[in-house]
Formats: sequence, C-alpha cells, structure tokens
Amino acid sequence: MVDAETIANAGFKLSIAKIKHFEVRPDDIFLLTFPKSGTTWMKEILPLVMNGGDIDAITGTPRDVLVPYLELQLSVDDDPVIRVAQKQMLIPDGFALDQLQSPRLLSSHLRSEFLPRVVEEKMVKVIYVVRNPKDVAISSHYFLKAVHLSGFVASKWPSQAKAYQDFSEFFPEFLEMKGRAQMLHYDGTKWHEHVLPWWERRHHRNVLFLKYEDMIRDLKACVRQIAKFLNVRLPDGAVDKISDHCSFQSMKNNQMALKSNYCTNILGVKAEEGSPFVRVGVVGGWKNTFTVAQNEMFDEIYQEWIKGSDLEMTFEL
Ligand code: A3P
Repeated sequence: MVDAETIANAGFKLSIAKIKHFEVRPDDIFLLTFPKSGTTWMKEILPLVMNGGDIDAITGTPRDVLVPYLELQLSVDDDPVIRVAQKQMLIPDGFALDQLQSPRLLSSHLRSEFLPRVVEEKMVKVIYVVRNPKDVAISSHYFLKAVHLSGFVASKWPSQAKAYQDFSEFFPEFLEMKGRAQMLHYDGTKWHEHVLPWWERRHHRNVLFLKYEDMIRDLKACVRQIAKFLNVRLPDGAVDKISDHCSFQSMKNNQMALKSNYCTNILGVKAEEGSPFVRVGVVGGWKNTFTVAQNEMFDEIYQEWIKGSDLEMTFEL
C-alpha cells in the first residue's frame, strides 16, 4: 500500500492524491503499460476499435487527446513542466477529462497501487500491455538518450542532462530503476512491480492482458480480441483496415503516431528519423546489444523478479 500524496522525481511532480480520488465512470476503459511496451501502438488501435475502424475520424486528433494520460492530465495545474509537455503533446488549453464523452479511453503508466481505487476493485475495464523486459530495456535506452540530450531537460533539470555513454552504463540503472533511469518511470517502479499485479488479475472479467509479442505475431487476432473484450461489433473489413493502419510501416508515416511535435520541441529529435515512439518495433532486438555477460546477469535478476509467478514472456520470435 502506497500512501504518497505526490510523486516528485527528477522529472514530473504528480498529484497522487488527485489521481486516487479521480471520479472514474463505470464504462471508462484504462490502457495500462510500463513505459516502452507498446503504449503508442495501442493508442492508435483503441480509438479505431471503438469507432468501428473510421480512420478519418481520428486523423487530425492527437493520440494523447484520444487516450489521455490520467496522471499528466490531473497534475497539469500543479506542475508547470507538465503543462509545457502537454502543450507539446498538442493537448488544448482547458482540456479536461470530465468533459470527455463516455466511454472514455484513459491511459496510465502508474503502478497499480497509485491508480484510482475503483480500477483495482474490478469496476472498470483494463487493457494491460506487457513487453519482454529485455526489449523494454533497449527501447528505454533510446528514449532516455533523447530525453537526456534534450534542450528542454537541460533547461529544467541540468543534473539530468547527460546521456548514458552506452548501454552498459544504462543497464544497471535500468535494473535498479535508479539514477537518471528514473526519468523513464515517475516513481522508480521496476518492470516486475508493474507487471505482476496485473498478471495475477489476468483472469478477471474486467482485465485483458495482452503481450506486445503476440501483437507482433498476429495483430489481427489481437484486434479481434480487443473488440470482443470491449463488446464492439466491428463492421466487415474493419479488422483488416485497423491492422493495416496500425502496422509499423504505416505508423512510421503517421505524424500523430510519431508524436512529431513532441519529438521536435521536447526531445529535440526529428520524428521521421528517430521518434522513440515508433522506432524499430521488433521482438528480440536486445540480442544485437546485450553482451553474453549482460544477458546472464539479466536472466538471473529476472528469475528473482518473477519468482513465485507463472508469468511466461517471449524474448524472441
Ligand atoms: P522500440 O523502441 O523497440 O522500437 P511506448 O509507446 O510504450 O513508448 O513503446 C514504444 C515502443 O513500441 C517502440 O519500441 C516502438 O517502436 C514500438 N511500436 C510503436 N508502434 C508500433 C507498431 N505499430 N508495431 C510494432 N511496434 C511498435
């Protein structure tokens, strides 16, 4: 049980008290992920499943408006840095979660203890996406490189504005979720602390637990699974249409999915060349980076992480 009122790390200050007491509607749908696990991908898929595959209807709308981050939106008035970041995510001034039509799609990277109580108490639908932690580590390394080198971070947190020299410098800090790696997750939550509580609840009626690797393997099957879970009857052809639109190649050419504006103005990278939100999108990319020793170390720590759990992850296809 976590009793924090706020979380303030090297990055944002989040109002946990506000988040915990957020008025959840019974038909809210939550997308929950550890960072770098396919959040952007799912933010493209979910609105299309909900609207029956109408791509035109979402074309001009920022994905963080279609599926806003609960914790950022609720903390926006308390933290000027979040306000700036939200602006660059193209979230309009005055945007408020309570003005959204039901059913709302909401997203969060928060660990389960920090979420509004009703989410824990099986009252709303939760889609949880997990990705194998070796690829999460690689994806996080790229993301943090952009974060640490960005002029925005340098101006707000000079002490953080130093990129890791290489993966080997980042790796131990990722495992411990300490140092500059904490900018990945608000409160230093480690991968297994985020994933396991939802894995334990995977059989609950209100939970759909999806693996990134299964989405790579068969996106159409996952789209069908999501539609069924959300009680949406998709029109003929919609599964193909959604899957094509949400393919990696298609999202690589989609400025909204790339979060082009945020990339340019916060991360200081050109989205077409290096958006960390749609980057390489593969399973097993870690094999190109991990040394044998790092892999052995990871496997040992991973066994500790998942001890006592029957969670099985796919590390390569
Ligand atoms: P990589 O950095 O390994 O390429 P998040 O949105 O949670 O930050 O996750 C980002 C990761 O999801 C990135 O992984 C990104 O490439 C991947 N991703 C985004 N869209 C994807 C898609 N359509 N297909 C496969 N992977 C995708």
